[in-house]
Amino acid sequence: MATNNATAGSETEEKKEIDLTRTREILNGFPRARRHLIPVLQKIQEVYRYLPEETIKLVMAWLGVSKAQVYGVISFYPQFRITEPGKFIVKLCYGTACFVKGAPIIAGKLHDIYHIRPGETDKKKMFTLQTASCLGNCGAAPMCIIGNDVHGTIDPEKTKEIFGSYENTEDPAQAKETSPA
Ligand code: FES
Repeated sequence: MATNNATAGSETEEKKEIDLTRTREILNGFPRARRHLIPVLQKIQEVYRYLPEETIKLVMAWLGVSKAQVYGVISFYPQFRITEPGKFIVKLCYGTACFVKGAPIIAGKLHDIYHIRPGETDKKKMFTLQTASCLGNCGAAPMCIIGNDVHGTIDPEKTKEIFGSYENTEDPAQAKETSPA
């Protein structure tokens, strides 16, 4: 399940300047009506990977919706995030087969290495950890998806190896989330 507001180390984070050009382009493609709020937020998140505060302000002005209405929608749908995620979204399967075969041990290993729990992002902003219900590959339990890559029959030792192999990658295609939770 996705979490939309937890980020480890966020207190020390510097505020980045957000380029709002794409937000304006997106808004120009929608009539100014409240019913478009969800698709507008989805498009913006596709571009920025989360919903920066500055983009939300433009959405409010364009669609004529209040802050409470926008944040009400954001907090209702777990697909939306208001903090910048790590380069890789990690979906760790917590379905029954994966759970029984050690998913919580994998989560513990990730906490040992990266100091993250489900819903959190590590300080280097590499990994955002999410748990998921059955990912449909129980034969390979326990399993996880890192970015677009599926990894099965993982164990604590492999966890270190697999995640370590992503640490210096700059491939943006890998960073794209497969689909909202
Ligand atoms: S329980 Fe994990 S893939 Fe089915």
